[in-house]
Amino acid sequence: MPRTTDHHRTPRAEYEGLVAVVTGGASGIGLATARELHARGAEVAVLDLAATDEPFLHVHCDVTDDQAVRTAVDTVTNELGDIHVLVNNAGIGAQGTVEDNTPDEWHRVLDVNVIGIARVTTAALPALRKAAAGGAGHAAIVNMCSIAATAGLPRRALYSASKGAVLALTRAMAADHLCEGIRVCCVNPGTVDTPWVGRLLSAADDADAERAALAARQPSGRLVSAEEVAAAVAYLAGPRSGATTGTDLAVDGGMQALRLPPRP
Ligand SMILES: NC(=O)c1ccc[n+]([C@@H]2O[C@H](COP(=O)([O-])OP(=O)(O)OC[C@H]3O[C@@H](n4cnc5c(N)ncnc54)[C@H](O)[C@@H]3O)[C@@H](O)[C@H]2O)c1
Repeated sequence: MPRTTDHHRTPRAEYEGLVAVVTGGASGIGLATARELHARGAEVAVLDLAATDEPFLHVHCDVTDDQAVRTAVDTVTNELGDIHVLVNNAGIGAQGTVEDNTPDEWHRVLDVNVIGIARVTTAALPALRKAAAGGAGHAAIVNMCSIAATAGLPRRALYSASKGAVLALTRAMAADHLCEGIRVCCVNPGTVDTPWVGRLLSAADDADAERAALAARQPSGRLVSAEEVAAAVAYLAGPRSGATTGTDLAVDGGMQALRLPPRP
């Protein structure tokens, strides 16, 4: 019998045997992430207000509703088992300076973008702990943060406050759960070409000029694609990133780190 050497083996899909939950996975970055994890071999559950016809377990869930979140996580564990990967992606935007948003709008955005992460993570932690201690020995959380957490952007006071909280929460969670074998990281996208940005553009007086301005704001001169963000999430959440925790990964065309001269 010929001996089988490692390089002759069929490569095992990176996420084979793993269960991933993606909040806000019915659109934009969340949908691209759900597709990416599925393509890499994961069983994917999407928790969202909306659904798609993709091959995911769709669980209708509002991340601001405690009971709905607990029920949704129970549905996932009953259907798919322990949770190896949680992507806290659901989020909403807000525009304006610090004096422009009403207290209700402040409560609403923080409720979805920050407390939503706390709710879903709290509900999922028992299943993540089991996954970390189980056969695959793998559990990771990736939170969707933003360039707005690390750079001052005009007319984004409330949204930036929410994403600054996501960055701090990511590091705190990483510290708390390292000893349980659960890694926690976040991705900080620049402006990403998603339905969300499409809605922003269609509300602008001159959508083409606004799109060009958003693209020019990034040193790469273009918007980020949802697939590029999804690839970063898959990298951070994957079994091969076992030494990476408390990390924020910018996917922003150089917007945070680079200072280039103006384009000619
Ligand atoms: N698009 C960008 O430029 C950009 C940049 C940086 C960060 N982000 C972040 O990426 C994430 C996704 O943004 P996107 O552009 O893909 O948006 P999107 O609007 O295309 O998708 C967001 C999804 O979240 C769901 N959702 C919203 N509120 C929810 C709730 N209460 N409960 C459950 N699901 C809910 C929506 O139904 C939708 O499917 C957000 O956290 C956003 O802050 C986006």
